Amino acid sequence: MSTTTLEPTLEKAMKIEDTASYANNIKNVTVIGAGTMGNGICHVFAQCGYKVSMMDVSQDAMNRALATIAKNFDRQIAKQSITEADKEKAMANIATYTSMAESMSTADLVIEAATENIDLKIKIFKEIDTYAPEHCILATNTSSISITRISSQTKRMGKVIGMHFMNPVPVMKLIEVINGYATDKSTTNTIIDLSKMLGKVPCVVNDYPGFISNRILLPMINEAILSLQEGVAGVEEIDTIMKLGMAHPMGPLQLADFIGLDTCYSIMNVLHMGFGNQKYAPATLLANMVQAGFLGVKSGEGFYKHTPGSKELIVSERFSDKKWKI
Ligand SMILES: NC(=O)c1ccc[n+]([C@@H]2O[C@H](COP(=O)([O-])OP(=O)(O)OC[C@H]3O[C@@H](n4cnc5c(N)ncnc54)[C@H](O)[C@@H]3O)[C@@H](O)[C@H]2O)c1
Repeated sequence: MSTTTLEPTLEKAMKIEDTASYANNIKNVTVIGAGTMGNGICHVFAQCGYKVSMMDVSQDAMNRALATIAKNFDRQIAKQSITEADKEKAMANIATYTSMAESMSTADLVIEAATENIDLKIKIFKEIDTYAPEHCILATNTSSISITRISSQTKRMGKVIGMHFMNPVPVMKLIEVINGYATDKSTTNTIIDLSKMLGKVPCVVNDYPGFISNRILLPMINEAILSLQEGVAGVEEIDTIMKLGMAHPMGPLQLADFIGLDTCYSIMNVLHMGFGNQKYAPATLLANMVQAGFLGVKSGEGFYKHTPGSKELIVSERFSDKKWKI
């Protein structure tokens, strides 16, 4: 077939493609998962005046999330970036739900920020597709899982997109916007504009394992864990070298504790499987720590010991001498 026969069809297809942005139509946002990321995402939307439905299977997780959001607003008040009245208004914008169906009956945008596990996300997206209104955009905050694979579980592949916020969400400017293979142009444009309306900077990338952020960051963290595992250096030395030598604001092991070692492990597994390359195999030490429940900040101990309210960096006793075992 000659290109001249194809051209009119292509031209037509491009003309009918909807490239409009519907960011201004988004008023109600549902956030699935009220953990580390979910609470930050709710915080930012609520502060910007959106009606936020926070949904989690655990009411305890949502109570903790509300307490964290209130505490983080108090920090902003202390820095005089918001007032007490702003805090009250924003907190009043957040409602909590344990029922998926109820949480999204009027949603214009659903952002899934549940545990990084492919089977769980597939199950959640099937449910979201059933309950969310037809016009609703479905975004996932996944760190590494294929947007295309997640979207294929729905009957609206064009409306599914990656909206990858960074931790801590209220502070970090970047949103990595990930186009699935079948994401519509108007969905991408809507999420780009919405990100800007939240005061964030969107960066659009394509759907490959780990996207850009975690394809580059996680192998570095894993290499730091391998160096510790091999006894090349201790926790403090590894983090100090990367902080002072590379001007990183925090060392890779401290960052791993912040991200959550379970999340780091899941992302490494996605990279390992997705690229089929042994260089992405997660460190045995990382696997062992996750299996033993040493998950970093969220469990109180990882490479460091974490006491709520304290910013002091104390290396976990397990790594404070050279006798520890993997
Ligand atoms: N932690 C980070 O630094 C970071 C950064 C960017 C993106 N992410 C991604 O964000 C997502 C969430 O990560 P996190 O660190 O907040 O995890 P987390 O473990 O802190 O929280 C996950 C929450 O999901 C809830 N959950 C589990 N199953 C659920 C279900 N069926 N329905 C509703 N809620 C459910 C859990 O109860 C928990 O509260 C993951 O996909 C992760 O990869 C994490």
